[in-house]
Amino acid sequence: MTLIEKLRESSDYIRNRIGDGPVDMAIVLGSGLGDLADSIENAVTVDYHDIPHFPVSTVPGHKGRLVAGTLEGRRVVCMQGRFHYYEGWSLQECVYPVQTFNVMGIGKLFLTNAAGCVNTSWQPGDLMIITDHIKLMGDSPLRGQNPDELGPRFFDMSSVWDAQARETALAAAQKCAVNVRQGVYMLFGGPQFETPAEVRLARILGADAVGMSTVPEAIAASHMGMKTLGISCLTNMGAGILDQKLNHEEVLETGERVKASFTALVREIVRTWI
Ligand code: HPA
Repeated sequence: MTLIEKLRESSDYIRNRIGDGPVDMAIVLGSGLGDLADSIENAVTVDYHDIPHFPVSTVPGHKGRLVAGTLEGRRVVCMQGRFHYYEGWSLQECVYPVQTFNVMGIGKLFLTNAAGCVNTSWQPGDLMIITDHIKLMGDSPLRGQNPDELGPRFFDMSSVWDAQARETALAAAQKCAVNVRQGVYMLFGGPQFETPAEVRLARILGADAVGMSTVPEAIAASHMGMKTLGISCLTNMGAGILDQKLNHEEVLETGERVKASFTALVREIVRTWI
């Protein structure tokens, strides 16, 4: 079975469950934002393990399901739980859901995540609109035979992060009185956090944040011509910046602390990103 045939089966299954008609956007909820899906109206939940060909998430605290319905008057499909390279999935598997969304006819992708802050002028708890990214990892989700039905073999990456969506996000932040940063996200494979030298490298290369997700999905979306917006919650300073060790608890704690403002911002963006 080809990738396209699999994607069609996944798409058909989801459509059977959630119904036909245009979906305004797909939203990937990162650490700390998962609860947002619980406030979706007329929600239909679809567990990943019920969807043919879908990978199934293993990280504790990450739910593995789609929640489809209405949020801020828009029809959305949310991923509660995403697939990470560090879990052992290939990058192809990590982006499978995004490719499914495209086959479902969804044109907008809103990615959120938790990330480490490498910009020393910023602070844990800051939110960052992703303006661009850096991926030095050799692998690509589009490595291998090109699925021509989805997009071209060689594709442009000069406007992955949609300029108009970023304007919408800035306006939404102002409306919600939430302070946002704008910056470059650099992908690391994880699961280990970066070393201080890697964080210095990231900063020298022009990154403002480091994280273990989001870039593969954005690459796949760009391949298919989807409009992509990304917002990071900078949950901790990158390794070596402060005289303290990094741990997952700090990531969760900061995520919890800024959850209300992050949620308000995401909602306002969903309402206004047309
Ligand atoms: N590094 C990579 N990923 C992360 C971090 C970090 O410091 N914090 C949250 N996700």
